[in-house]
Amino acid sequence: MAAAAVPAGPRGGRVMGNMREFNSDSLGFIERCAREFGDVVTTRFLYVPALFLFHPDHVEYVLATGSKNFIKAANFRSPFFRRVAGNGLVSSDGDFWRRQRRLAQPAFHRDRVEAYARTMVAFAEAALEGWRDGGTIEVHEEMVLLTQRVVAQTLFSADVSSDSREIGEALSNIVRPFASQTTLKWILDNRLPTPAHLRFNRDVRRIDRFVYRLIAERRASGEDTGDLLSMLLRARDEDGSGMTDKQLRDELMTIFLAGHETTAVVLTWAWYLLAQNLEAEERLAAELSEVLGGRAPTAEDVPRLRYADWVVKESLRLYPPAWGVGREALRECEVGGYRVPKGMQVLAFPWATHRDPRWFAAPESFRPERWGEESISKLPKYAYFPFGGGPRLCIGNYFATMEAVLILSTIARRFRLRLVPGQRIELMPAISLRPKGGMLMKLEGV
Ligand code: HEM
Repeated sequence: MAAAAVPAGPRGGRVMGNMREFNSDSLGFIERCAREFGDVVTTRFLYVPALFLFHPDHVEYVLATGSKNFIKAANFRSPFFRRVAGNGLVSSDGDFWRRQRRLAQPAFHRDRVEAYARTMVAFAEAALEGWRDGGTIEVHEEMVLLTQRVVAQTLFSADVSSDSREIGEALSNIVRPFASQTTLKWILDNRLPTPAHLRFNRDVRRIDRFVYRLIAERRASGEDTGDLLSMLLRARDEDGSGMTDKQLRDELMTIFLAGHETTAVVLTWAWYLLAQNLEAEERLAAELSEVLGGRAPTAEDVPRLRYADWVVKESLRLYPPAWGVGREALRECEVGGYRVPKGMQVLAFPWATHRDPRWFAAPESFRPERWGEESISKLPKYAYFPFGGGPRLCIGNYFATMEAVLILSTIARRFRLRLVPGQRIELMPAISLRPKGGMLMKLEGV
């Protein structure tokens, strides 16, 4: 069958295309596209045309079965993104990416990750030492500090507790330019020395200093701690040369960023959802006392913490930290009966597909128990893809799930979290789907 004409899409401005609407409310715009135009939608951002794909089969084609026809989307090559993550695992492509992925993979094997469980729980318990019954916390910030410590310790054997607040602040500043509000500047590659750009560069330098220090210290000590940093330092090309400091920096920065913000965000939304669904909170508490009986969780408990796992899965469904996944067509191909020209940007949105009533009954409701129901096994494979899929599947998916279950369990057996009334919780679809302006929660000791 010959591929059909161009799919329909929302009418946009003559110059800006759909940029204005997307910038003012990205998630709302995506939802409108799906509702009004169906599974394949044509959009345009200034001079950049993009296809939005909402059907799981089309997502599967782009990420998995037809993945050879695609590279990462153009925004991964933007100067902003490159300045932060360089040519690390998330943004690299082709043979270079394949080699780097192979080198990093052993640090994420099941056995390895299970060995990290002790650190994950110990750091969660340490964080709780500062929490008091009746106290108030900014839960997103707390989760960020915690997941930063976990990634740095498990993968780089680095203790960032003294640097954490500074790094956390620098990171928060860095993700701001990635919020959709500034997409125009992004695409236009605006490198003018505006205060915002100067601040951005200063913040990246702050994190750079930290990462380069880690590399220098490990090179100097020559120690092989068996962690990811040691694995990358040991790697040799055929000609015997190792990775440059710049490439090491890019990989560490990428893993550090991809490895903490996403997990912090899913935990934040899990607390938010539990606070509003007391039945689910009760069921979680019951499971924790049955499985743990008053002690802290371990890696061996994880398979038995089924409800905690469902809470994490359901939070990832409703608030997928990676709310959009993008590719660029490397050559002409076909999706859903439409021709995809070479160079086309193709975007899939866990945010929208996860809330599609064709796949999830009562999609807006938080129902962790749905993950134990028969119907879940009949879902199309890519109706749920919080970790992407195919060869570029998140390398940290097992790490993240284990960490989220362990941190959730460690905290929930000691505290219930309640939203401080009167706050407006707004979504900020930046690199990850964070709560704009944070989230204040009151602590109730259990
Ligand atoms: C709940 C937490 C997490 C979510 C929702 C998440 C989501 C994702 C998604 C959707 C992708 C694929 C992006 C694409 O195809 O364009 C990805 C890739 C990646 N993630 Fe995660 N991630 C999480 C946690 C982690 C952790 C804990 C680590 C590391 C410690 C990590 C490291 C990476 C890396 C390095 C990639 C690039 C892999 C590659 O292309 O080879 N992520 N993640």
